[in-house]
Amino acid sequence: GLACRAQTVERDFVRTALPPRKIDGHKGTFGKVLIVGGAVGYTGAPWLTAAAAARSGCGLVFLGVPEAIWPVEAAKCVSAMPFPLPDKHGKLSPKAKEEILKRAAGCDAVALGPGLGRGDGVTELVLELLREIRQPVVLDADGINALAGHMDVLDARQDRVTVLTPHDGEFARIGGDLSAGDRLGAARAFTEAHGCVLVLKGHRTITAVPSGNALVNTTGNSGLAKGGSGDVLTGVIASLLAQGASPVQAAAGGVWLHGRAGDLAAERLTAYGMTPEDVVSALPAAIGEVQ
Ligand code: APR
Ligand code: MG
Repeated sequence: GLACRAQTVERDFVRTALPPRKIDGHKGTFGKVLIVGGAVGYTGAPWLTAAAAARSGCGLVFLGVPEAIWPVEAAKCVSAMPFPLPDKHGKLSPKAKEEILKRAAGCDAVALGPGLGRGDGVTELVLELLREIRQPVVLDADGINALAGHMDVLDARQDRVTVLTPHDGEFARIGGDLSAGDRLGAARAFTEAHGCVLVLKGHRTITAVPSGNALVNTTGNSGLAKGGSGDVLTGVIASLLAQGASPVQAAAGGVWLHGRAGDLAAERLTAYGMTPEDVVSALPAAIGEVQ
């Protein structure tokens, strides 16, 4: 029946997710992305998100990281602009809130979570940011972990755009029920309950929206099963949102482009040898196939 069927993400749909490039556009035209993440021990995750956003069309990328790792990001970033935020024991402190809110207000989309780490301070900060940020938010990784047990904070964002990008473990932590082995049903139930967009990652990632609609992705391969691949996806989705794609276009379109970039990287380097950085490098070719 209907419950166990869903459409697949097709190239023509992804084409609609790529906002047209106005010939006289300037960097403001194409949207500004704010990425907040990183911790001592997780310097690669926020960088991958920033690099992926920069490779996906947006005009400006700001990267807020704990002060302790800011010099590392500053040395790695060329296209994105890293800035230091108040930290404690190498992780972001709740004191970072005001600066992040100020930056978010000047941006068109926010990605929150890659490499944040876990702890009471991080949880408090993530919840406060979700309460106050008006812009579309892509919540990933430890940002999702911080939400566990505080789903009322997500429910209170139903007047705003929130895209959650959990893998199965993160999905279970925020109440997703995969016990029946029905990923599609579980994804639909979750988005209907919480009024957000859900990207349930894995082989054949599912994008579900509150209307009950769900799209199954067919691109991607086992070469993406490596630490950091998910961080790349977060940057692509945030970049598309900042350019004005709708939430479902940005989410399902971003998933398709990320998987296709992974397939192009595997053709060149094999699923064994490719890395998340290679997926970032292959994003332009994936975009070129649908633009
Ligand atoms: N086929 C197709 N796609 C795949 C496959 C596969 N076999 N395996 C993984 N992928 C894709 C997923 O769909 C997803 O887009 O690779 C990506 C993996 O994302 P994550 O599971 O978030 O992995 P990772 O990038 O390592 O996450 C970084 O954040 O989620 C936390 O605990 C995680 O610390 C880790 C960090
Ligand atoms: Mg992840």
